[in-house]
Amino acid sequence: MKKKLFIKTYGCQMNAYDSARMADVLAPFGYAPVDAPDDADMVILNTCHIREKAAEKVYSELGRIRQIRERRAAEGRQTVIAVAGCVAQAEGEEMRVRAPFVDIVLGPQTYHRLPEMVARAARAGDRSSGVVATDFPVEAKFDELPEASAPQGPSAFLTVQEGCDKFCTFCVVPYTRGAEFSRPAAQIIAEARKLVAQGSVEITLLGQNVNAYRGTGLDGERWGLARLIRALAEIPRLARIRYTTSHPRDMDDALIAAHAEMPALMPYLHLPLQSGSDRILAAMNRGHRAADYLALVERMRRAQPALALSSDFIVGFPGETEADFKATLDLVKRVNYAQAFSFKYSPRPGTPAALAEDQVPEEVKTERLHRLQDLLWEQQLRFNRSKVGAVIPVLLEKPGRHQGQLVGRSPWLQPVHLDAPAASIGRIADVVVRAATVNSLSGRLAAPAFKEDAAA
Ligand code: SAH
Ligand code: SF4
Ligand code: F3S
Repeated sequence: MKKKLFIKTYGCQMNAYDSARMADVLAPFGYAPVDAPDDADMVILNTCHIREKAAEKVYSELGRIRQIRERRAAEGRQTVIAVAGCVAQAEGEEMRVRAPFVDIVLGPQTYHRLPEMVARAARAGDRSSGVVATDFPVEAKFDELPEASAPQGPSAFLTVQEGCDKFCTFCVVPYTRGAEFSRPAAQIIAEARKLVAQGSVEITLLGQNVNAYRGTGLDGERWGLARLIRALAEIPRLARIRYTTSHPRDMDDALIAAHAEMPALMPYLHLPLQSGSDRILAAMNRGHRAADYLALVERMRRAQPALALSSDFIVGFPGETEADFKATLDLVKRVNYAQAFSFKYSPRPGTPAALAEDQVPEEVKTERLHRLQDLLWEQQLRFNRSKVGAVIPVLLEKPGRHQGQLVGRSPWLQPVHLDAPAASIGRIADVVVRAATVNSLSGRLAAPAFKEDAAA
């Protein structure tokens, strides 16, 4: 009999990728994914530690899951509860103390061992023995996880790199994901081929520091990300390649050249800046100055004039003055972003910045966040509007809200709404953009819309 598996995923795309792999690793043991926890035989919370009170939120979610477990136990049925991801890694044994009904606490590098842990937990039954696995051998994870089994659709994610050696003073990732590790190119190319065979035409390469990729190449040499992308671009029918998240420090000449030369590499780059103030950048340990970032953006735009940029920002980092904040606004104006995420600084336990004495008051952070977001939204709207009237290639991804409507993505990751036959999902259509809002574009199919039709 099939067992029901419910996975709730928080945080970054790498967690989403990992959740899919956990489902894959459990599939041979009879677990099939469901969309709600109420009747699940196993619940996995795949957690994120980036935001404020992340751990507290997980504990309160666990409270709800515990009620489900108790109701099912009264009916004589077992529910295995597992907590994965970055909160699991950070809490470790502590989680078993605060939530003893959790059967399994597993860090991001141990997912290949999940079946064995589930078997142990199931044997222990309600006397939940508790399995805590938070060690860091990243190599084993990718060597031993089964190949992805469920098709991801037209646009797929593929983790190529994990972990971080940068130690920005605000960030938990180096502690929760461990040191930088790059998967061998052969493994990545094999997985990409499989994704394309399953119908994906776009692949986004994932890594906490994806452009720090240094994996063993097909020739036994160390390959950087640009070399890997060139090899992937040779896969027939793989039309679009993206990568995220990049660190400005790791943007090398080869990667800039790849943007100039490779049509498959989409003209869109998420390149987090965090702050436009040199003093704050130094305190954050980002390893570059504002001027370095601007110079890099200029070089990239020379290489690929269509390039659009997005970024992450933190406002109210300890010690940030009004002048520092204005430097951020100033840099945003000079770069002109197509999209961006911005956050109030929140102290993460165990990180150096959390101990700083000069924390910025909450109301100052809120006010700065609003000012920054107003500017970023204005830029985003302007960017979206700049596409109105243009004909752009859109990868048709899924049904839209209304009958007959589809949603796709532009080269710049903008969602595009249009009327098109459902059978065209997975194809790239030329679309005339008719309107833009801050969040999306809408348009109609150009005539002809598909290259193959034009050739016929
Ligand atoms: N590796 C990526 C970022 C991963 S975390 C990089 O180096 O850019 C995603 C974003 O969360 C970060 O870019 C940062 O803007 C934000 N973030 C991380 N820790 C934070 C904290 N303590 N407070 C507020 N925002 C934070
Ligand atoms: Fe965190 Fe900095 Fe590493 Fe990004 S580069 S994951 S922000 S420590
Ligand atoms: Fe969150 Fe961990 Fe990703 S902290 S953002 S899930 S690396």
